[in-house]
Amino acid sequence: MQLTGARIVLTGATGGLGEALARALAKKGAVLLLTGRDPDKLARLQMPAGSDYRLLQADLGTSVGIDEIVAAAQQFEADMLINNAGVGGFGLLDEQDGKEIERILRTNLEAPIQLTRSLLPQLRMRPAAAVVNIGSAFGSIPFAGFAAYSAAKAGLRGFSQALRRELADSRVEVFHIAPRAIDTPLNSPAVNALNQALGNASDSPEKVAAAIVDLLACCARERVLGFPERLFAWLNGLAPALVDGGVKGKLAVIKRHAAKKI
Ligand SMILES: NC(=O)c1ccc[n+]([C@@H]2O[C@H](COP(=O)([O-])OP(=O)(O)OC[C@H]3O[C@@H](n4cnc5c(N)ncnc54)[C@H](OP(=O)(O)O)[C@@H]3O)[C@@H](O)[C@H]2O)c1
Repeated sequence: MQLTGARIVLTGATGGLGEALARALAKKGAVLLLTGRDPDKLARLQMPAGSDYRLLQADLGTSVGIDEIVAAAQQFEADMLINNAGVGGFGLLDEQDGKEIERILRTNLEAPIQLTRSLLPQLRMRPAAAVVNIGSAFGSIPFAGFAAYSAAKAGLRGFSQALRRELADSRVEVFHIAPRAIDTPLNSPAVNALNQALGNASDSPEKVAAAIVDLLACCARERVLGFPERLFAWLNGLAPALVDGGVKGKLAVIKRHAAKKI
């Protein structure tokens, strides 16, 4: 999709990936409505000189917050919605409380679905439009220690595929882009230590933002970013028992890091 002049709503713009993506899109000439929950972080966003953007504080954890984004996006005449806001969720399931599970599912899955649903009538009217869902490699390689997060991101992947098929006769494109680990505040020190212990690569937000911008301008609608993660995602779809065995071999390390709870 043409990014120059595209009017893009980006959630989670105050986060590590969100801010890098906002800058990369601005450099391509996109006009941005940047949303985040924390007003101080929003005010501190560093955008390239000359970029055309507006800021909106809204909490995706509340229906009021979602309504505020929808109203602003309608006024803004958005033709692309990037569902990027998200929260992490490392921990063994029986050690997570109900509120934490609710927050993980609400932010990573329900909020993007509700936002998309509300903005769809307006997106359908644009000459070219897109919904872009930022998933995670864990949505295709569900991982021990991340059960609720993996469930939310697998749900987002399923939502993206179903919606793409539902909108096949419209002008609205649906992208699902699933990064592997990224160096952002989403990952607690315990997650970073786990990634290091397992030898999992972690990308810079700028590298991931550049890959997303490339995909939007090109042809692929569905992509797991990084190798060997893309291979394991494919393998998990084909022979999940093989991946079960691989993850079982890492379980003791995962449990040790989950016990650190930081
Ligand atoms: N980091 C990784 O390793 C990794 C790997 C794969 C995929 N991802 C995905 O990439 C996306 C961006 O994550 P990130 O790494 O950039 O995380 P991050 O630095 O923690 O940023 C998260 C963003 O989401 C926003 N957010 C969280 N809860 C919100 C709520 N209730 N209402 C409104 N905004 C809310 C935050 O806003 P405030 O700061 O204003 O609260 C922040 O802008 C997420 O979907 C994540 O799942 C991340």
